[in-house]
This record gives sequence, C-alpha cells and structure tokens, in this order.
Amino acid sequence: MKLHGSLFAVLTLPALLAGALALGAISAPQEEEETELEKQMVVVEDGVKALRRSTRDPSRVAESLATLATVQAAALAAKQEVPVMAAAIPEGEREAFVKGYRKEMVIFVTSLLELETALLDGDADVIKAAYRTVHDMEDSGHERFTEDG
Ligand code: HEM
Repeated sequence: MKLHGSLFAVLTLPALLAGALALGAISAPQEEEETELEKQMVVVEDGVKALRRSTRDPSRVAESLATLATVQAAALAAKQEVPVMAAAIPEGEREAFVKGYRKEMVIFVTSLLELETALLDGDADVIKAAYRTVHDMEDSGHERFTEDG
C-alpha cells in the first residue's frame, strides 16, 4: 500500500505539476513586473506609431489630434516617474540623473504640444518636421535613461 502510494506519487505528481504550470495555476518565475513608466511608454509607442500615417493625411486631422491627446497624457504621467535605471546610478549622481530624466520629458511633452500646434495650423511640412522631432526623441531618451539604451 505504502509502495503503491509512493509509486503513484512518482508517476502522477510530475504530470499534475506540468498541468498546473500549463494552466497558469502555479506561476513560473517571471520577469520583474512592468513599471508604471513602461505602461505609459507603451501608450506613447502605440500612439506615435499610429500618428506616422494619420499625420500625413489632412482628412484625418481630428483622429490625429485625438491620438495625440492620449500620447500627451501618457507622457505627462511618465514624466512623474523614475526610470528603473536610477537604482543602478551611484547615489551621489542619482538626483542629477532623475532631474535630467524629468527635464528630458519636459522637452518631449513640449514637442508633443508643438505637433498639436502644427496639426491645428495644417502646414504639411511643419507637421512632418514636428512629427520627426517627436519620433526621434525615442532613441535619444532611451540612450540616456535606459540600461539597454
Ligand atoms: C516616441 C518616443 C518614445 C517611444 C515610442 C517610447 C517607447 C518606449 C517603450 C516601448 C518602452 C518599453 C516598455 C516596456 O518594456 O514594456 C520604453 C521604456 C522607457 N522609455 Fe521610452 N519611448 C519614447 C520616448 C522616451 C523619452 C523621451 C524618454 C526619456 C526622457 C524615455 C524613457 C524611457 C525609459 C526610462 C524607459 C524604461 C522604463 C523604466 O525605466 O521603467 N522614452 N519606451
């Protein structure tokens, strides 16, 4: 009986565990949780991607302005956060790093407001240049404020 019990356990436990893992009942070790900053950045990314095409089409200006409003709100929320990378900065330099991040986000939000002005004015060349400025801030921002730059 005892032997049967342990044989049963040896044969079925791995299968039960595998099943539970597959069903998500037991969670496998995961990456760290998504930060609030990451969540807002995903909203920024989706919006900026959509704006690439919609800003080229004057008949879609209302749609562009609506998308842009979601990006602006996400950028404003992101501005209040602290990048994960701050934890890896030596203590004596951390305050300056966080201030630098915040000032860069102020510039980013400003570029989003300038894109809004351009859309309201309706000059295609100015819209294109304003969009490019917004777009290009991704690489420069990430270079300075993310670990994998
Ligand atoms: C068009 C502009 C931008 C786009 C599309 C964008 C997009 C993203 C995306 C997709 C992520 C990763 C989210 C994830 O892993 O789930 C991210 C992370 C991040 N971005 Fe941006 N980003 C932009 C501009 C900026 C700017 C201007 C800054 C800095 C001033 C910045 C700072 C960061 C930081 C620090 C993270 C890491 C998250 C953390 O530390 O918690 N991003 N961004």
